[in-house]
Amino acid sequence: MKPPARVLVTGATGAVGGAVLRTLAVAGHDAYGVSSRGGSSPRQLAWRIGAEEPPAELRGPWDALVHCAADTRWNLTAEQADEANVAPLRALLAWVGEETHVIHMSSSYAVGLTGSVEPTSPRAYRNTYEWSKAVAERLLTAGRSSADVVRFPIVVGTRSDGFLDRYSGFFWLPSSMCTGAIPALVAEEKAYLDIVSTDDVAGHVAALVAGGRPPAPRLSVLGGGQTALHVRDLFDVVLSALNDWRAEAGVPALEQLPYLTPEQWNRFYLPFAREHLDRAQLLRVTAFQAYQGYLSVTEPFEVTHDVEDVTSTVYRSVRRWAELHSTTARRVPRPWRP
Ligand SMILES: NC(=O)c1ccc[n+]([C@@H]2O[C@H](COP(=O)([O-])OP(=O)(O)OC[C@H]3O[C@@H](n4cnc5c(N)ncnc54)[C@H](OP(=O)(O)O)[C@@H]3O)[C@@H](O)[C@H]2O)c1
Repeated sequence: MKPPARVLVTGATGAVGGAVLRTLAVAGHDAYGVSSRGGSSPRQLAWRIGAEEPPAELRGPWDALVHCAADTRWNLTAEQADEANVAPLRALLAWVGEETHVIHMSSSYAVGLTGSVEPTSPRAYRNTYEWSKAVAERLLTAGRSSADVVRFPIVVGTRSDGFLDRYSGFFWLPSSMCTGAIPALVAEEKAYLDIVSTDDVAGHVAALVAGGRPPAPRLSVLGGGQTALHVRDLFDVVLSALNDWRAEAGVPALEQLPYLTPEQWNRFYLPFAREHLDRAQLLRVTAFQAYQGYLSVTEPFEVTHDVEDVTSTVYRSVRRWAELHSTTARRVPRPWRP
């Protein structure tokens, strides 16, 4: 599809949607964004998809719809996750015509614990977020003769300077390291933690828009796959980015946290923690449990589109996070003592 195509990006104030909207605009498309609360430009409108009718300005045919809106929290009930991540897609599919090129952002983790989006039971997934992303993929591919599903793993900022519209998800890690919210790194050191830059996702979406509608539903999976970072290397990069920034800011360096395997943690440390930690500490420890499943993935994702090494992009993104969240990044964690 040659520019200027009329393209609507949902979730356009988010980490991924913001980058996608800018890339499509730079490519010369007539690009608009929507999000629950709307954005700062006249091309960024407010629309709570699935809960409200679309604003009048959005009427008329769209050449492409890039669906990035989602609620990425892991702790919703299945009903809430369905309402957040499936109902908006259902509403969009009923709203756009068959001639619109629908490009749906999914997650590499939508394949849950079985490696497939087909299981319908939430038990086949780590959490209701993954489950709802799988439901959305099935809805899309069953309900449309043509669509693009784009799966990708964890997202960090741009390759040039680490900028992100919203630092959530992965950035729990630098934040927790600075605040002392985690007592140890509970992970398989050799596990893979696949990561892409927003540039990788936005560039891929721009190429899909340029290529036009596929003849049938099509899946792309972006990532490093076999060459993805190992958890240990990733933690090292995060720690060095934080400590370089802290040295420049005159703040003491963070110490390397001890590594524990999930088995060591669950069998020996957690029962001890339950007995001896106060309520606030226990809450943090319990919240931290949710990450274990993501830090113990020993099989790399099978990817269809390889991305370049992200080591320096992670470094830049963590430094950029520190600049923008300097109060948290300057914190001196208190040692964990019962
Ligand atoms: N970030 C990652 O690491 C990652 C990894 C893999 C896949 N993904 C996928 O990439 C996509 C984008 O994620 P993200 O990280 O960019 O999310 P994000 O930063 O949390 O942004 C979510 C965006 O969606 C909007 N939104 C949510 N529900 C909406 C609704 N019902 N109607 C309209 N707008 C709504 C939000 O608007 P408000 O701010 O106004 O609420 C915001 O603009 C999602 O499909 C996610 O599953 C993300």
